[in-house]
Amino acid sequence: MMNRRLWLTRIVKGFSITGAGFLAFPFFRALIPTADDETSLEVSVDDLRPGQSKIVRWRGRDLVIQKRSQEMIKTIEEGSIDLKDPSSLQSLQPAFAENEYRSLRPEIFVTYNLCTHLGCQVVKSKDTSLGFSCPCHQSDYDLSGRVLSGAAAPTNLEVPAYRFISGNILVLEVVEV
Ligand code: FES
Repeated sequence: MMNRRLWLTRIVKGFSITGAGFLAFPFFRALIPTADDETSLEVSVDDLRPGQSKIVRWRGRDLVIQKRSQEMIKTIEEGSIDLKDPSSLQSLQPAFAENEYRSLRPEIFVTYNLCTHLGCQVVKSKDTSLGFSCPCHQSDYDLSGRVLSGAAAPTNLEVPAYRFISGNILVLEVVEV
């Protein structure tokens, strides 16, 4: 009888310790930093040829980093496309990107790839005079991520804060406001 009681006591204690461990796990896990919590991320653009782009995930969202070709820069400068917010007055970008390139340097473009209508992922446009296209409701954006007039998307693609720390390395960073 004693042995049975001792055995039951041990089982109950075992469950208590295991249960406490399960309850504590999410708490301790929340304290461990993950990639989505990074306050800065270095990205090299050395691997991109003119016209190429790559996707980088940062703080839970994807970004497109594109090396523009001279033809792309020329198309932007020609400014012949009818845009909803050409000067990006209604759109989200750092002060340094308040220009026609919407970038720090004309040859590198960085933008979140989420459509400003309902948040679908935009893709590279099949039209080489444009930059991005949204497959959900066909909003088109120019090579600077500015939405075309008549599109469902209300504003231009969002540009994140970043800076260059060398010729080919940029740093994405959280900016306190
Ligand atoms: S979500 Fe992009 S056009 Fe609607």
